[in-house]
Amino acid sequence: MSTSRTVRQIAKGIPTSDGAGVKLTRVIGNQYVKNLDPFLMLDEFKSDDKADYMAGFPMHPHRGFETVTYMLKGAFRHGDNQGNTGYLAPGSIQWMTAGRGIVHEEMPNQEDGPVWGFQLWVNLPSTHKMTAPRYQDVPPEQVPEVELEHGRVKVLVGDFQGVRGPVEDVVTDPLYLDFHLNDGASQAVKIPLGKTAFVYVYQGSAEIAGTQLPERHLGILSEGETIEVRSLAADTRLLVVAGDPIEEPVVQYGPFVMNTVDEIQQAIQDYNEGRF
Ligand code: FE2
Repeated sequence: MSTSRTVRQIAKGIPTSDGAGVKLTRVIGNQYVKNLDPFLMLDEFKSDDKADYMAGFPMHPHRGFETVTYMLKGAFRHGDNQGNTGYLAPGSIQWMTAGRGIVHEEMPNQEDGPVWGFQLWVNLPSTHKMTAPRYQDVPPEQVPEVELEHGRVKVLVGDFQGVRGPVEDVVTDPLYLDFHLNDGASQAVKIPLGKTAFVYVYQGSAEIAGTQLPERHLGILSEGETIEVRSLAADTRLLVVAGDPIEEPVVQYGPFVMNTVDEIQQAIQDYNEGRF
């Protein structure tokens, strides 16, 4: 018999701003949930008001981890100091391995209208922190969607009932699923033993093993092999994310995430001297 995971901690997303003043909700990486190895940060950005997002995220560096952008509504474009550019349409996912360093910008590709999406930061182990940068830009039509008895799920990364998401070769072997569930729907989700796992309800309300998760709440899961999610609203939408913990020291200085203070100082020096 497989063991069920339960919710061991609930946390509400905290309103904040980042970049050049983009308003967002910080779900992981705030004062209550500092980090959730291997996950360093989860932001939800959602607004119908261009004043909340037009400033975007102008040129900034990253080293030592991966940034994952998943768009629900609206569009962003990105460009880096190596001449790489890309377009993030609604329903697309970008898995960016910053590795030894990139300098990029992430800016809205629209004048007004709604913007809604997520950015997740996933750590890299010491063996991979200085790897070559890599982009996996996945357009919406390449994200498989599985019809469920009472809803549907997009498989962004990892495996759901034998359907595999398009993002490959990630060292922490993650799972990233986006569920839409009808009222009262009950859905089992397999999450391999040993992985750090969480659920984020971004619309509606859900229950897991007797614990209710209202909208904009994170549920950090206990160890186990499966969860049973029940929707408590008409159109509940939630992310299920899991990954292998890295279990190494984390020294973070803004967009640099390394193992030691020396490595952070090296990152700052390399960036300042144009070696990214
Ligand atoms: Fe960035």
